[in-house]
Amino acid sequence: MDLIVARDRLDLVKARSDWDGGASVALVPTMGALHAGHRSLIREARARADRVVVSIFVNPLQFGPNEDFSRYPRTFDADLEVCRAEGAAVVFAPSVESMYDPERQVGVSSGAMGEVVEGASRPGHFDGMLTVVLKLFNLVQPDLAVFGQKDAQQLALIRRMVRDLDVPVEIVGAPTVREPDGLALSSRNRYLSAVERGSALALSRALRAGAAETAPSKVLAAARAVLDAAASELALDYVVLVDPATFTPVDESYTGEAVLAVAAKVGNTRLIDNLILTLDPLEDQITDS
Ligand code: PAF
Repeated sequence: MDLIVARDRLDLVKARSDWDGGASVALVPTMGALHAGHRSLIREARARADRVVVSIFVNPLQFGPNEDFSRYPRTFDADLEVCRAEGAAVVFAPSVESMYDPERQVGVSSGAMGEVVEGASRPGHFDGMLTVVLKLFNLVQPDLAVFGQKDAQQLALIRRMVRDLDVPVEIVGAPTVREPDGLALSSRNRYLSAVERGSALALSRALRAGAAETAPSKVLAAARAVLDAAASELALDYVVLVDPATFTPVDESYTGEAVLAVAAKVGNTRLIDNLILTLDPLEDQITDS
């Protein structure tokens, strides 16, 4: 089956009308500059649905005024090859003008959960992200959509939106894909020089150090020690240990899954990473005694 490139909502409706009404549809929303992490999302989508739509749209609403919207990597031809090779049926790549009415007024609010952690550093980011994701859901009308765990707070907020607004789309989270040395794949990695790339490894090293502990304070202390040692090579924004569903900090007695999340600037490039850990403060006391 040939890959269809839909440039606006009419193209999309036409592509969908050629499909058998019973075919299940999975959406993989992206901003392009596709890498092996996106490939794994497309594969996950293919395993779960008859047709896969990949959206490629650098969404201006989710970038702050001093962020990298204008220089965000745009590699459309290479992206099409990735989508073709991975068996996507449609690439939906609308223009900004076709996505947003110039008189647009209404958007999605990410609430208090969108103002903490990553949202505290990037005001408005999650409102813009949820607004475009909801629009993509409405346009593509998928049965399910696949998102990477690499953007853990984004994934948690999308799950929250679907619940709060009764959006009939199943949300599937897929694991972060890493380079053999631990660096989490990101479209922004291509901004890094060779030296900066070496410095960026401190993020995944810090997460691994934290994951070796099971009590919240020790997890954070271990992660911070690695980041402190790399302080001359990066500017730490945050390292937090939070509840995966709400992104509020966990307390010392917390038991169960938590997200250890980190953000730092390496040179001019802001990177984020996270790991899901299982906390068990009691196990830590047993180990210590
Ligand atoms: O994760 C991304 O690439 C973007 O935030 C998304 C989900 C495609 C919305 O623009």
